[in-house]
Amino acid sequence: MPILEFKGKTLVITTDKPLRNQLIEAGLSPHNGQSQWLNCKGLGTCGTCCIRIDSALCSEPTPLEKWRLNFPPFKNGLKKGLRLACQTHLLDDGKAEKGRGFWGEEFD
Ligand code: FES
Repeated sequence: MPILEFKGKTLVITTDKPLRNQLIEAGLSPHNGQSQWLNCKGLGTCGTCCIRIDSALCSEPTPLEKWRLNFPPFKNGLKKGLRLACQTHLLDDGKAEKGRGFWGEEFD
C-alpha cells in the first residue's frame, strides 16, 4: 500500500478508495476553512479538495476532474500539479500539499 506524506503526517493509503475519503478518515481534511462544510462531498464538482501532488503517482484523471481543474478558479490545474482528492487514487509513495485560499489552489 502506498505511503503518503500530507500536512506533516505519514499515512498508509489504500489504492481502492479516493484520497479524500482516506484523508478525512485520518483527520487530515483536504478542505480549507469553510470549504470543510461547503463542498460537493466528493462528486468532483466544487474543486475544494484540490491538492498538489505528482500526477505520476496517481490514477489517471477522470473526465470530470479534467473539466473541473480547467474551470475557475483553476486554469490548467493538471499542468500545475493539482488533483482533486475526491477523484484521485494514490498508486505509489509520495507527498501531497494543500495550498491557501478557499479552494486551496494558491501556492507560493
Ligand atoms: S469534494 Fe468537491 S471536487 Fe472534491
